[in-house]
Amino acid sequence: MRDPRTPPRPSIRPERFRVRFVRATAEDADRVADLARRTFSDAFAHRNPEADFAAYLEQAFRPERIRRELSDPAAEFLLGLVVPGAAALPDVLRLFTEQPFGYCKLVHGRGNDSVPAARPLELQRIYVEQAAIGHGLGTRILEEALLRGARGGHDWIWLCSWDSNDDANRFYQRHGFRLYGFTEFVLGSDRQIDRVLARRLPRTAHGAAARRVPTRRGATAQG
Ligand SMILES: CC(C)(COP(=O)(O)OP(=O)(O)OC[C@H]1O[C@@H](n2cnc3c(N)ncnc32)[C@H](O)[C@@H]1OP(=O)(O)O)[C@@H](O)C(=O)NCCC(=O)NCCS
Repeated sequence: MRDPRTPPRPSIRPERFRVRFVRATAEDADRVADLARRTFSDAFAHRNPEADFAAYLEQAFRPERIRRELSDPAAEFLLGLVVPGAAALPDVLRLFTEQPFGYCKLVHGRGNDSVPAARPLELQRIYVEQAAIGHGLGTRILEEALLRGARGGHDWIWLCSWDSNDDANRFYQRHGFRLYGFTEFVLGSDRQIDRVLARRLPRTAHGAAARRVPTRRGATAQG
């Protein structure tokens, strides 16, 4: 029982507002490139040598390249939007009823030697706009990825995360990912160490029955 002298702790993950996900198509290449470039820059520009970073941005986020990625049938870009109408929606999130608060890129069937998957799903990118961080929206995107992975019949989900990205590594750990190996990531001329993190997805009959995917203690992704 809670000590009556302790004020109630605000719940950090209330279902205060709903979000929805839209799969981007090649026609969305310009705005996806813009979102991907901006969120990557906001997260990492200040932590990397300027020239290496500029070189990487130039090659990784060109609209033509993103268009090619969007046209790959194995790739799934999900854009997250806040559903308008919730009275409790914080002002700072109203913008994201019209434009995505973040996105992820999934690659179906792409494996990694360190991960013992028969039907792997790669979470290649997950990014939330700076203004939207701190509202549990990264969790919402990850839950959607887990749900789609389980429904799609995948048995494992894996990703690469910069060894020095402590916040993201804690986020993944909270959501059940564990370390399976290390790999190299080249940013311009800079060679960096990435962690290979992975977790199992629940087994379902033909992938169709996964309605709730446990993500962390006591929480589930709702189908
Ligand atoms: C990694 C990333 C996607 C995680 O998304 P996020 O929205 O920050 O993650 P969460 O959903 O856990 O929310 C983070 C914080 O918001 C708070 N939060 C969670 N739900 C909340 C809610 N409903 N209301 C208010 N605050 C909430 C939590 O306090 C949490 O902080 P904690 O570390 O103390 O638990 C995001 O931080 C990001 O885009 N980072 C930069 C890019 C990056 O590193 N990407 C990964 C590359 S591998």
